Amino acid sequence: MKKYLAPSILSADFLQLGNHVAATEAGGADFIHCDIMDGHFVPNLTFGPMVIKALKKQTSLPLDVHLMIENPDALIPEFISAGADYITVHQEEVVHLHRTLQSIQAKGVKAGVAINPATPVSTLECIAEFSDLILIMSVNPGFGGQKFIHQTLSKVEKLVEIREKTGKQFLIEIDGGMNEQTIPLALKSGVDVFVAGSAVFDAPDIMVRSRELKNIISSGEAIFV
Ligand code: DX5
Ligand code: ZN
Repeated sequence: MKKYLAPSILSADFLQLGNHVAATEAGGADFIHCDIMDGHFVPNLTFGPMVIKALKKQTSLPLDVHLMIENPDALIPEFISAGADYITVHQEEVVHLHRTLQSIQAKGVKAGVAINPATPVSTLECIAEFSDLILIMSVNPGFGGQKFIHQTLSKVEKLVEIREKTGKQFLIEIDGGMNEQTIPLALKSGVDVFVAGSAVFDAPDIMVRSRELKNIISSGEAIFV
């Protein structure tokens, strides 16, 4: 199965954003992960659709938009118009998940569901088969550079079982604390999409680091078919 690197621009230098994204692309990145925070759902603020629109002109990579905001339904149309290719909402925030996913997919955009470290996978049992992507948070959302929570890997393994049972091909993404040490562990558990912020953008050479991480990730393609 194909494996993907999704650099999170949360850790990029925003004055250099275009160059930084181009460097990850040259290093083999597959998606650009965009963390949207509102200071309510998470204790941090980032950016909105304007930045997605600007990125869309800069890169040909799919934009993977992770909404860590209250009432995401109100802003989803803006993110779709701005050029989001994937939109992921949090299970903890959205009451009518099935409706929200359908409204995203009806616009030709892929729809995902994320869960925080404290949320069990059982909350996804009835929605996974309707999702294009499930995002397992492996840190508490809000900030880059946090320590990986190992226990979240058992959730990945449970999701792989759900995927086998339903026969639906949703992607399994992991977000938080991914680096050279933790990516191999997540690969072994069955992750498909690896979000990495500080591991990519704090590196002295972003292109080289992207390539290094991508090589580790791709090594899993042959092993986990
Ligand atoms: C955290 C964000 C992540 C963050 C990951 O709330 O969702 O995407 O950028 O950063 P690192 O890879 O530094 O843990
Ligand atoms: Zn994220």
